[in-house]
Amino acid sequence: MQHKITSFEQYQETYKKSVEHPEQFWDEIAHTFSWKKKWDTTLDWNFKEPSVKWFINGKLNITENCLDRHLEKNAQKPAIIWESNDINEPNRILTYQELHDEVCRFSNVLQNNGIEKGDRVCIYMPMIPELTIAVLACARVGAIHSVVFAGFSSKSLSDRINDATCKLLVTADGLYRGNKTVALKEICDEALQTTSSIEKVIVYKRTNEAINMQIGRDVWWHSEMQKATPHFDAVEVDSEDALFILYTSGSTGKPKGVVHTTAGYMVFTYYTFLNVFQYESDDVFWCTADVGWITGHSYIIYGPLLNGATSVMFEGIPTFPDAGRFWAVIDKLSVSKFYTAPTAIRSLMASGLEFVYPYKLDTLKVIGSVGEPINEEAWYWYHEHIGKQKCPIVDTWWQTETGGILISPIAGVTPTKPTFATLPLPGVQPILVDSGGYEVSGNNVEGFLCMKFPWPSILRTTYGDHERCRLTYFSTYENLYFTGDGCRRDEDGYYRIIGRVDDVMNISGHRLGTAEVENAINEHPNVVESAVVAYPHDIKGQGIYAFVIVDKQSIEKGIVDTDPDTGDAEADSLRLLNITAFKNEIRDIVSKIISPIAKPDKIQIVSGLPKTRSGKIMRRILRKVAENDISNLGDTTTLLDPSIVDEIVKNAQ
Ligand code: WT7
Repeated sequence: MQHKITSFEQYQETYKKSVEHPEQFWDEIAHTFSWKKKWDTTLDWNFKEPSVKWFINGKLNITENCLDRHLEKNAQKPAIIWESNDINEPNRILTYQELHDEVCRFSNVLQNNGIEKGDRVCIYMPMIPELTIAVLACARVGAIHSVVFAGFSSKSLSDRINDATCKLLVTADGLYRGNKTVALKEICDEALQTTSSIEKVIVYKRTNEAINMQIGRDVWWHSEMQKATPHFDAVEVDSEDALFILYTSGSTGKPKGVVHTTAGYMVFTYYTFLNVFQYESDDVFWCTADVGWITGHSYIIYGPLLNGATSVMFEGIPTFPDAGRFWAVIDKLSVSKFYTAPTAIRSLMASGLEFVYPYKLDTLKVIGSVGEPINEEAWYWYHEHIGKQKCPIVDTWWQTETGGILISPIAGVTPTKPTFATLPLPGVQPILVDSGGYEVSGNNVEGFLCMKFPWPSILRTTYGDHERCRLTYFSTYENLYFTGDGCRRDEDGYYRIIGRVDDVMNISGHRLGTAEVENAINEHPNVVESAVVAYPHDIKGQGIYAFVIVDKQSIEKGIVDTDPDTGDAEADSLRLLNITAFKNEIRDIVSKIISPIAKPDKIQIVSGLPKTRSGKIMRRILRKVAENDISNLGDTTTLLDPSIVDEIVKNAQ
């Protein structure tokens, strides 16, 4: 643990060194790992194309660093402790040796099923150890994993499979989530009707429900594993070979496949896990995210395993069987470092302290937050009732595209300030710019958050469309990586993330594009057009507010959001019923096309949208209406039809 920063002075020195000599700085850290062949050049980059390469010509396999490297000393140490959805089901513990063996076995299974280096494998799985095994086995055979969060719909799944032309799909019969089950295989079967690249489906048996197995295509995980040996020589890959693709929403309708490569991602997730959480060898680390998101990739799987840590994997949800589940598991497993999202904190805070009091929580040393801005109230509640005022809170800012944490306190080292992600980690060079792209220097300022120098785990491309990567992240401001976030730097130089400045929403820490949700709503046969904006939501951080124009036929049926009080009680209640049914249909469609997480919280039926003469929707106005801040709607004179604003305001939800 020679790379662990243990004092604020050391942080300042290390930071300085990392900015003055970035190559030397990362070079030194990269020597920690086992390489099949060392790199010859540390970095080559330009943000114009963009092209970023770290540890050039290095050859390695990341799983040797996650697994084999620890076997000599830590073969019997738990790598994964799994907690079931069912609080009474025993924990499953996989030691480093066992995880290694299972990964090797599944690597053989992948190979037996036609997977070769460079092939794309889609993983659509419950939060069970087999998900981690599948991810690592892909890496071991040199295949590129594309994990799709198991809460996504069949349409989202097939779009992602098609975009990456995945050859194989790993899934399960079903999954448990609170008191519900989800028929995963059925969703896969539906998705596979609109995909042609999948040759094999490997199915893990979790819920035991009857499913359809297509002969020749679908095989069982358990029978394939029985045939496989626990030995598999890790395939040699290049530092810059892709490790995985992870889809994330942007401001256009189609999610993009963010590509991370092997060596840079390895070095950065190792380093940030070690430092931000101040990893100690006897830690029990629990990140509550799903592996379907970047947080799970980097801080359930790769970061912890690269450090030889014990990582908890939880199948269930925070409120099942009750809102004390997180705290019960922390006590049961003696969790020392806990990492969750503000939305979970807010929802558990709302459930009341009676769910916290029964638990000691005295094993906790560090608690973390990720995914969205944490409000002051939630920060203090977390600090007082979970951290018992003795655990530093690490408010970690980063993105799918950054691969790992960029701005965050180092636990116990960086003095914290509620709602501030505080300072950049070593090797991270933030810069604030104004809308003209000019640097906003000094302190006590606000601007668009960019990065002026590459860190090892910056995204390399968006799968199959490099131009999109350039346009989205590298073309707004010359020679800078643009994060899409607005940010304040206070009088102490501390960074506070304000939120997205593009058409990206953050719903319960999940990223969704407005266009993506609008496209789904527009699939309803009676919808003519729609516009979606985010508004502040007590628990979710942001909620979705949809403005929808319906067709003539629907208007005739009374599907209009005007005052229903016509004096005719019967007609009024019928109309309200119609409206409610219609709004539920919209929610169902969005669920089906994207995921239940994308369902609009509020839907307002409107007769038109505020558009400029050039046809651009003025979302600023819609946002104000959704935020219920109608006192100052700004200039509406450039609108094609300013009167539409009055109607929208009058009928606002
Ligand atoms: C966006 C990235 C990084 C893993 C989970 C989300 C927002 C993330 C914070 C934070 C304020 C945050 C930003 C960012 N965000 N962490 N600590 N404070 N905002 O990954 O889905 O790629 O979303 O989440 O707006 O751009 P993601």
